[in-house]
Amino acid sequence: MLSASNVDAGYGHVRVLENVSIDVRQGRIVVLVGRNGAGKSTLLRALSGLNRPTSGKVTFDGSDITTAPPNAIVKAGLLHVAEGRRLFRRQSVADNIELGRYGLRLTEQDHHWRVECIHQLFPILREKMELPAGSLSGGQQQMLAIAQAMMREPKLLMLDEPSLGLAPVLVDQVLAAILTLRAQRVAILLVEQMVERALEIADDAYVMQNGRVITSGPAAEIAAGAALHAAFMGEHGAPHHSEARQGRP
Ligand SMILES: Nc1ncnc2c1ncn2[C@@H]1O[C@H](COP(=O)(O)OP(=O)(O)O)[C@@H](O)[C@H]1O
Ligand SMILES: [Mg+2]
Repeated sequence: MLSASNVDAGYGHVRVLENVSIDVRQGRIVVLVGRNGAGKSTLLRALSGLNRPTSGKVTFDGSDITTAPPNAIVKAGLLHVAEGRRLFRRQSVADNIELGRYGLRLTEQDHHWRVECIHQLFPILREKMELPAGSLSGGQQQMLAIAQAMMREPKLLMLDEPSLGLAPVLVDQVLAAILTLRAQRVAILLVEQMVERALEIADDAYVMQNGRVITSGPAAEIAAGAALHAAFMGEHGAPHHSEARQGRP
């Protein structure tokens, strides 16, 4: 469904990604892990057209999207929920969900059905529809950010650190929602600092270090392998549990 081959990307003259290749097949959860600064967010931005690759090729659902503008990529069904929930905090939950379908024409019935699907995925949002988004907890805001993307019925959803700053029970809910989406045949590309938890729910995994993919394979194999540990060992020898920003408020 999504295939990136030999992608380079960066900021100005600074090259961040070097020769990155990844594949996400339909209905699979693929997790991308690596320490802070490894280039995970840069890769998602390269795939969603926010930061165009300087070389390499990206195809999605049979089309070359390497140089496609972000709106065309969204239209093709590749949605990116960026790090740090970008919501309209003063607007209601309902309005924020509406904003998710900006520019999209839906029949009354389709619209109703999509909102209903969102409510089934995140029942708490049904109860909070009229409240300002800014009044939601961090976890609920993350759910709302995902809900916004769901209004477009993505074929592939890229999530950048959805568990960041969430209480454990909410992390469970977000991960459970990701599993539900997979059951609905939505492919997921997940960037996650909660490495062990993410590897438990993922089908495939890629480990990034210094802008490169250092290893990839079935998530269970990656979880058991040595490369994962190596990727989280810094120059200062920091073990990965201090790297992972688990439980950060
Ligand atoms: N807007 C930016 N301008 C310049 N450099 C950036 C920018 N965003 C990220 N970087 C750099 O790119 C590298 C990869 O960052 P990022 O993709 O955010 O890593 P990750 O998501 O894995 O933590 C880092 O060295 C970071 O400092
Ligand atoms: Mg990041």
